[in-house]
Amino acid sequence: MCGIVGYTGPREAYPVILKGLKRLEYRGYDSSGVAILNDHLSVYKKKGRVSELEESVVGINMHGHTGIGHTRWATHGEPSDRNAHPHYSASGNIAMIHNGIIENYTLIKKELQNKGYEFKSDTDTEVLLNFIEEIKKENNNTLEEALRIALKRVVGAYCILLIEKDNPGTILAARKGSPLVIGIGKGEHFLASDASPIIEYTKEVVYVNDYEIAIVKPDELILKNLGNEKQTPFIQKLDMELAAIEKGGYEHFMLKEIHEQPQTIFDCLRGRLIGSSATITMSGVDNNMDTFMNASRIVMVACGTSWHAGLLAEYMFEELCRIPVEVEYASEFRYRNPVINKGDVIIAISQSGETADTLVALENAKEKGAFIFGVVNAVGSSIARLSHAGAYSHAGPEIGVASTKAFTGQLAVLAMMALKIGYKKGTIDETRYKTLVRELEAIPEKVKEILADTSNIQRIAEKYKDAKDFLYLGRGYNFPVALEGALKLKEISYIHAEGYPAAEMKHGPIALVDENLPVVFVATKDRYYDKIVSNVQEIKARRGKVIAVATEGDTIIPGMADDVMYVPDADEVLAPLLSVIPMQLLSYYVGVSKGIDVDKPRNLAKSVTVE
Ligand code: AGP
Ligand code: GLU
Repeated sequence: MCGIVGYTGPREAYPVILKGLKRLEYRGYDSSGVAILNDHLSVYKKKGRVSELEESVVGINMHGHTGIGHTRWATHGEPSDRNAHPHYSASGNIAMIHNGIIENYTLIKKELQNKGYEFKSDTDTEVLLNFIEEIKKENNNTLEEALRIALKRVVGAYCILLIEKDNPGTILAARKGSPLVIGIGKGEHFLASDASPIIEYTKEVVYVNDYEIAIVKPDELILKNLGNEKQTPFIQKLDMELAAIEKGGYEHFMLKEIHEQPQTIFDCLRGRLIGSSATITMSGVDNNMDTFMNASRIVMVACGTSWHAGLLAEYMFEELCRIPVEVEYASEFRYRNPVINKGDVIIAISQSGETADTLVALENAKEKGAFIFGVVNAVGSSIARLSHAGAYSHAGPEIGVASTKAFTGQLAVLAMMALKIGYKKGTIDETRYKTLVRELEAIPEKVKEILADTSNIQRIAEKYKDAKDFLYLGRGYNFPVALEGALKLKEISYIHAEGYPAAEMKHGPIALVDENLPVVFVATKDRYYDKIVSNVQEIKARRGKVIAVATEGDTIIPGMADDVMYVPDADEVLAPLLSVIPMQLLSYYVGVSKGIDVDKPRNLAKSVTVE
């Protein structure tokens, strides 16, 4: 996602846009830029934070009453000056900014290149812009008409703002899938991705709907659908404060990001997994399939939550691809002089793509001839650029220090990889492959079901918030989820928690169990179910308090537990994408009940770029 701002009216546009971009920087901060329209159309843009853009235009005459601005979260083309928005059209007469992903941009780009177009950036945005201008030229029609025609052919998500040299004072806007709010002022209009850049000027807003085009002038707002039929703008009154709006109305970024997961998992699968045809398209894997097929082993290298994703990937890849997998803490892997052979595949997992331990571990492995595949969230980050190939998790900027939506995005990518490689190798049959593809496609809706009512989890959090220790237990695919649940609780509530394989209890840790110890069992229905029932009995026999994550419809585990958090049924390979959600919520509500700033827990940083 990214931040979009536009202004047209009597004020100087640049200061309004700059301030608005700073309010939207939480949506993405790879680069930023502005386009200002006065008697000519000027674009200024720069890699890095908005403050760097601001410094770069000091001394330049930024006069103009119409303008658009963008702060980028890269999806196509690494963060750089040339990939920053706004983009000029080929003629230089139009400037455009874009939030979203144009999925069929490669096809459109080829068509334009065949007509002689050259591109200054790697973005899908520049392709869409030149596609619009080409239609305008070919049909000799207005920009608005060309926009309508182009958008009927576009596949993907967009919120776009366009300004045209020959049309001073006017901003054209359109949206599908990415948000757009228009603030109604007196003889002026404000446009933005959310209300935070608008609220200080006006509380009257219009939320533009999908497939609508807005023609915005200082004293006029016209809404039309793609059929060129006028729509009546529905003007609403903002009743939120600024801080709340940046968080989308949630109290914390962490809660917002937990609730974004149905969309972010959908975004991760989009353009890659098609359930109806049981196809998974991942260019990073497709182009290196032989390397994966012939891999003597796969080494997962990561830290923290990403390491837990690596542990789950070990279960997935060994089961589905029958390739030996090792999971390494990057901080250990980089120093212990590991044996690395040429046939080794290293899968680096990282939300930030900047974690120092992971980065150096990869540099060492690369020097020894290993093939590096990056599963990263931040486009163009150091780990992404160091990798031979990769797949982005497309979870969007993750602001909360505790990783939530990035983790489920990693699992979705890794599951697609294991399915794709296993099916190609023939280590899973067509029936199992098709079943899992359809199940993975259904995950976003199942996550939405869990998030629909979190009151029970809030109650459980309130009940156990004063415990001094927790145990988190699971078996098989649920064991790494238990580890992740324990980490979430530790880092968000400062309560000590340990994750263990449930069967390991009898080898010592069960000595900890008494009536004061809450034990969280990740106990969804799977091949270990009967065994985990016995493990629960062991704890109950010692008066431990059992909190269970159980599959909807299960009666045995819930009949034994003191408290239950239900998740929909799913194949055990994919169940972690569901069973981790209650873990995230439990840690969040315990932390909040203890008055902790869960977005910025003590001693932690979002990206650990030091050893
Ligand atoms: C997760 O909640 C933590 N904030 C932390 O463990 C994090 O997962 C770890 O630092 C790795 O970060 P990365 O994914 O950006 O490499
Ligand atoms: N897909 C566009 C790009 O990569 C826009 C990304 C965004 O939403 O920031 O530049």
